[in-house]
Amino acid sequence: MKKITAILLSALLVLSLAACGSSNQNTVEDTPAETEVATPATKSDDSSTDESTVEPTDDETENAETSGTAEAGSGNILIAYFSVMETDGVDTVAGASRVAVNGEVLGNNEYIAKIIQREAGGDLFAIETVQDYPTTHDPLLEFAYDEKADNARPELAAQIENPDSYDVIFLGYPNWNADLPMPLYTFLEEYDFSGKTIIPFTTHGGSGFSRTIQTISELQPDATVISDGLSISRNSVPGAESEVAAWVNGLNLTDPRAGNEPL
Ligand SMILES: Cc1cc2nc3c(=O)[nH]c(=O)nc-3n(C[C@H](O)[C@H](O)[C@H](O)COP(=O)(O)O)c2cc1C
Repeated sequence: MKKITAILLSALLVLSLAACGSSNQNTVEDTPAETEVATPATKSDDSSTDESTVEPTDDETENAETSGTAEAGSGNILIAYFSVMETDGVDTVAGASRVAVNGEVLGNNEYIAKIIQREAGGDLFAIETVQDYPTTHDPLLEFAYDEKADNARPELAAQIENPDSYDVIFLGYPNWNADLPMPLYTFLEEYDFSGKTIIPFTTHGGSGFSRTIQTISELQPDATVISDGLSISRNSVPGAESEVAAWVNGLNLTDPRAGNEPL
């Protein structure tokens, strides 16, 4: 009898271990990369989630994120972007936060903004701050982490000349610490885009938009915020021109100034 009980107990143990293993596997597969970086606990966690532990979003996810046609309407277009070009690392390789194009070196979101302008027309506006950001990676990570911890509102260095003249605002930014960079908070609190359409785009190290589109909607409750904005992994930025162009053209925006000149 003891022997039979022991055999039954062993069988139960094996079965429960097998079930546990398979549920762990599902959790890992089902957990989006962005969940992993949602709440950086420490500075070192933060930099490692950014660079090391965040798996780059695969192409399928990218396409899912960027598919769908946003009927943004027509009208005057502003392309506002924040981008910090880093000066360390190697140009145009995976992980770099800059792109070399036609002899010019641009930040990732700056590059995407320029493609959007070429395709859609409109005015470019660089969101810049009075303070300078470090341009090397680790000091920049630390600076941005502190700024987020302080819930800072860095002062902007320039204002949009005539914000009321725009109906559509493309808004581009890097994912920083699974959030908007703090200057985007200043920007979105400084302007009232009620009645306008905001079309977000981002480049990132694996987290996609994180929660940033909801945050934009919260900060601009009376604007229409397009939820299927363009999200591009920084690893894909150098080869993203045709994807960006196709996305912009799929939005059915009409601006007579749109052209197809090279950047
Ligand atoms: C301070 C800082 C924090 C970052 N945090 C994240 C992050 O949480 N998740 C992520 O996917 N990428 C993160 N990144 C990577 C950037 O989103 C990515 O390099 C982006 O392409 C930079 O765009 P830019 O060249 O226009 O500034 C971070 C980069 C920096 C500098």
